[in-house]
Amino acid sequence: MRILSIETSCDETAIAIVDAQEATDRTVTFNVLGNAILSQIDIHQQYGGVFPALAKREHAKNLVPILRAILEEAEMLHLNAVPIENDLRAKLEATLEREPGLADLLLDFLDELDRPAIDLIAVTNGPGLEPALWVGVNFAKALSEAWSIPVLPINHMEGHVFSALAEESDTRQYSVPPLEFPMLALLVSGGHTELDLVQEGFSYEAVGQTRDDAVGEAYDKVARLMGLPYPGGPEIDKLAKAGKAKGESRFSFPRPMLASGDCDFSLSGLKTAVMYELKDKDLTDEEKEDAAQEFEDAVTEVLVKKTKKAIDEHMPTALLIGGGVSANRHIRESLQEMLNEHYPNIQFFMPGKGLFGDNALMIAFAAYYRNKEQPEAVPLESITAQGNIRI
Ligand code: KG4
Ligand code: ZN
Repeated sequence: MRILSIETSCDETAIAIVDAQEATDRTVTFNVLGNAILSQIDIHQQYGGVFPALAKREHAKNLVPILRAILEEAEMLHLNAVPIENDLRAKLEATLEREPGLADLLLDFLDELDRPAIDLIAVTNGPGLEPALWVGVNFAKALSEAWSIPVLPINHMEGHVFSALAEESDTRQYSVPPLEFPMLALLVSGGHTELDLVQEGFSYEAVGQTRDDAVGEAYDKVARLMGLPYPGGPEIDKLAKAGKAKGESRFSFPRPMLASGDCDFSLSGLKTAVMYELKDKDLTDEEKEDAAQEFEDAVTEVLVKKTKKAIDEHMPTALLIGGGVSANRHIRESLQEMLNEHYPNIQFFMPGKGLFGDNALMIAFAAYYRNKEQPEAVPLESITAQGNIRI
């Protein structure tokens, strides 16, 4: 089954084409026919965060050139100057009414493109920035109308789950092994920090979540306080590594909610403690490294202990970590050590190199499994962008 997937929930415009094949032992192999991610970070950096209207404009500008490039990569770009018929043109114009920049680019492209051999279009419909999500959703609907291919809306956080489950053979091939449920998912990104129990059929039960800031958000805020560029996660990560290489930190920050008796998180107190310590101070590079190290240790300890508590309570077959913060090696290694020490039989899934942050491959992987659960085509008019949808 060939799946074209589209991801525009935040500041990455991503499209992929995969060919999915399921073996008799239920291992699913995904051959990557095309895969591209265009990051807008340079554009948003000057605002210190992602600016939704700008993200929308950039997605609208970039989707068609990216689609062209990956169709070419997949050897599916067959040009043939047969303009689309007037009825279809009118329909596509109506679908793309709110995406004027995109409409012109897409209609011109479709005028010269033969229908590619795709079976399913998958698109992220939330959670994320709604104006950004809508561009991807409307783009998917227009392609669906032009090519008569069904669209499957995919939850972005479920995408992150599949980023972890897919093991990379090489960058052109991933496979998801037969899975045993329940699994425990630790999802940590710019907007989310949650522990979810993943049940058979991919239904999710939240067993812990943040009461205020997400981990990625706390990283970004602390980085900003230190005058570091957006996104702050990788910057703090680098400083923390340098700090650890030197030894003990001179700072001591709290580990919030460790004694709360549940699996919930709260990170705003930690952020405030860091702010209090650093505000209006001109830190030396060494002090910045120490602060980053202690902040990262505090976050990691909370994540590891809450994850351990959730494992004790729910005894999953496997633990997985997904979302942009999973790029943090210290966090991944600390979780692995906890498993090795206390639960050597619990398998640990984490994303491969290109799959920590937002990407379109994860949306295609999730779509294969969702389509298996619900193979009926979803009516296009029922597909909407939903900024706050839960997993
Ligand atoms: O999943 P993602 O790419 O986008 C969202 O869906 O939010 O996650 C982005 C978040 C940002 O807050 C970023 O600072 C954080 O992931 N991040 C990291 C690291 N790399 C990215 N946080 C800690 N350590 C990292 N190495
Ligand atoms: Zn994400």
